[in-house]
Amino acid sequence: MDKIIIEGGRRLCGEIEVHGSKNSALPILAATVLSGGKCKIHNCPALSDVDAAIQILRHLGCKVIREGHTVEVDSSVITVSEIPDDLMREMRSSVVFLGAVLARTGKAEISSPGGCEIGLRPIDLHLSSMRKLGAEITEEHGRLYCSLGNSLHGADITLSFPSVGATENIMIAAAVADGTTVITNAAREPEISDLADFLNGCGAKISGAGDSTVVIEGVKKLHGTCHTVIPDRIEASSYLIAASATGGRVCIKDIIPAHIGALIPVLSEAGCDITTSGRWICLSAPPRLKRVKMIRTMPYPGFPTDVQAIVGAMLSVADGTSVIIENIFESRFKHVPELMRLGAKISVEGRMAVIEGTKYLTGANVVAPDLRGGFALITAGLAAKGETVITGTQHLDRGYEAPEKVLRLLGADVRRINENDGTEKQQTRQLAENVGKPAGESAENRADRHSQEADN
Ligand code: UD1
Repeated sequence: MDKIIIEGGRRLCGEIEVHGSKNSALPILAATVLSGGKCKIHNCPALSDVDAAIQILRHLGCKVIREGHTVEVDSSVITVSEIPDDLMREMRSSVVFLGAVLARTGKAEISSPGGCEIGLRPIDLHLSSMRKLGAEITEEHGRLYCSLGNSLHGADITLSFPSVGATENIMIAAAVADGTTVITNAAREPEISDLADFLNGCGAKISGAGDSTVVIEGVKKLHGTCHTVIPDRIEASSYLIAASATGGRVCIKDIIPAHIGALIPVLSEAGCDITTSGRWICLSAPPRLKRVKMIRTMPYPGFPTDVQAIVGAMLSVADGTSVIIENIFESRFKHVPELMRLGAKISVEGRMAVIEGTKYLTGANVVAPDLRGGFALITAGLAAKGETVITGTQHLDRGYEAPEKVLRLLGADVRRINENDGTEKQQTRQLAENVGKPAGESAENRADRHSQEADN
C-alpha cells in the first residue's frame, strides 16, 4: 500500500493539462462490446477503473491492446456473457456493461453492486429500463440473470431521476434495438454526449444527447470506429480548487470550460479571478478565500457532486461560514472526520455540511475514505501547515492519474511512498510520464501570459 506525503503551505503555480475523462472512458469501453469490430479509443486515462474495464473486456473475449493513452478493443468475438463477482466489484460502474453484453449476446449475468462508500447505489432504474426494452431479469444470491425473450425493442422510458449510468445503459442497449427509444428526463452530463458521439461513430442513430430527451433509432448492426475521449472536467475542477485553497495561480490546458460552468461562479464568489479562452482556463486566487454562501449539488449542468468534497476542503480555509447541500448521494461526507483531523471546522447534519472557515489547517495523518474524499484530503493537506500523510491511496488511483506528479509540476511538495518498504515511487503508474507538461518559462509568467491571452 502507498501513502502520499504532503508538506503543505506552498502556493500551487503553473500550467498543466488534464487527462481524458474517467466517466466517459468507462461507458465507452463498455460500449465497444456492441461494435463487433475494432475500436480505437484515444485519451483513455491510466486509472485502476480503466484497468478494471479492460479486465472485463478481456474476460468477455475481446482482444485489448493498450499503448499509452490509447486502448484498442477488438470485439469481433465475444465468448461469454457473464461477469464474475470479483470483476464486478473492482469497479462500481461495471453495471454499464449490462446493456452492452445483453444487446450483443442476448443475455447477461452480472452481480448487483452492493452499497458503497458514498451510500447505497441502487440499480433499479437500470433494471426497469432494460425490462422496458424487452429483457427478462431475475435475481438470485446477489447475481442478476438477464435474457431476451425475442430481441430488444424500442420503448418510451421516463427516468424518475436523471441517472447518468441508467441513461448510458439505455443508450447502449437501445442502439441496436428494433424501433425507436425515447428517454425522457435523461442525464445531460457531457459524458452522455461523448458516449453518443462514440456510438454514432459506430453507426448508431442517437440524437438529443446532452438534452433531457434523447432519441435512439435502433439500427441492425454497429461497426468499429476511432474516438477521442473528452477531457476530464472533474480532474480539472479538482486541480483548480486545490490551487485556490493554496492562494495559487494556475492555468489548465485542454479542457472545455463550459463543462465546469457551475464551478466558475463558486470560485469567483470565493474571490478568485478566472479567465477562460478556447480550451484554457486560468485562475488566480487571493491569499485568503472568501466564504461561499451556499452550494447545492445537482445533476448537470448543476454543481457536480463529484466536486463537493473538494470544494468543502477549500472552504475550510476561507474567511467565513459556507454551507454545502448534497442532493445526489445520501452519504457523501465520509471525508469530513478526516478533514477535522487537520483542524477543519465542519458540522454535518444529514445532507448538509456547515463549514466554518479557519485561518489555517495543520498537517495530520488521514485515511482517504473514497475517491473524491481522498482528493479533498490532498487539497486540505496542500493548504495546511506541516506534514499530512494520506493512506487509502487506492481510492485516488481510481480517478486521478499520478496526482502527486501533477501537483509537483505546480510546485507542491508531494511524495508517494510505499508503506511497506518506505521506498519513494518515482512513477505511480506506467503512463505517469505523460501527465503534465513542465514548460521552459516560469510558472508565474505562464499564468500571466495565458490570462492575457484569455483576455484577448
Ligand atoms: C455517475 C458518475 C459519478 C457521479 C454520478 C452523479 C460514472 C462512472 N460515475 O455515477 O462519478 O458522481 O454519476 O453525477 O459516470 N440511482 C438510483 N437508481 C438507479 C441509478 C441511480 O436510485 O438505478 C440514484 C443513485 O443512488 C444516486 C443518483 O441516482 O443517488 C445518481 O446516480 P447516477 O446518476 O446513476 O450515478 P452513477 O451513474 O452511478
